[in-house]
Amino acid sequence: MGYKGKFKVWRGDASGGDLKDFEVEINEGEVVLDIIHRLQATQAPDMACRWNCKAGKCGSCSAEINGKPRLMCMTRMSTFEQDETITVTPLRTFPVIKDLVTDVGFNYTKAREVKSFTPPADLKPGEYRMQQIDVERSQEFRKCIECFLCQNTCHAVRDHEENKESFSGPRYLMRVAELDMHPLDTAADRKKSAQEEHGLGFCNITKCCTEVCPEHIHITDNALIPLKERVVDKKYDPLVWLGNKIRRR
Ligand code: SF4
Ligand code: F3S
Ligand code: FES
Repeated sequence: MGYKGKFKVWRGDASGGDLKDFEVEINEGEVVLDIIHRLQATQAPDMACRWNCKAGKCGSCSAEINGKPRLMCMTRMSTFEQDETITVTPLRTFPVIKDLVTDVGFNYTKAREVKSFTPPADLKPGEYRMQQIDVERSQEFRKCIECFLCQNTCHAVRDHEENKESFSGPRYLMRVAELDMHPLDTAADRKKSAQEEHGLGFCNITKCCTEVCPEHIHITDNALIPLKERVVDKKYDPLVWLGNKIRRR
């Protein structure tokens, strides 16, 4: 059965904006993105929102719904009370372009800063061999749909614009961890770059990134903590220390 629901949607651009009230028809089985589309069709034709697949796979429709970072296409209206006012705002960590659309360029910059897969120079394509267990380990990270909800949520940048330059965020530290786990990625020092270029030290494992990931990737437990452990092993392992000392002589 349909009903009339109450929505507040942030409208504005880089120069500022405000929440606008809407009363809108809501039908059984609908998700928040359906309602935004209905608002565009009936009351606010110039309302900007980004979306593509409506199936939780393109990662485009990220927004904050009642203050929680979510995919609009995967947030069912049936999870709210019918008399509840639903508030939809753009991702807070990235600059607003218009209404619900933000400039997520920060993430593309950080993606480019991760050096690509670097196998030994004498290994030719076709000669790559690795254990199945190593293949499987990275499969979880490969489920990422680049929705940037984790990047938006991590407190290290959410409230600290000044950290953006030094911190790549959970999604790209996860990429560094994935490459560091790769048995053939031997020609790049991922541990050093995790610390010095991607700001691994900013992460204090609050796990907020993991909580919002729509793909349920265990970002903190399976990528960030193991990466931190390996960085520490390398830095403080007495054997590594001794080896380095002997080599330097
Ligand atoms: Fe989105 Fe999860 Fe990928 Fe982060 S790791 S960008 S939350 S899918
Ligand atoms: Fe941020 Fe996730 Fe670490 S939220 S602090 S990257 S565990
Ligand atoms: Fe593709 Fe929501 S529209 S993830």
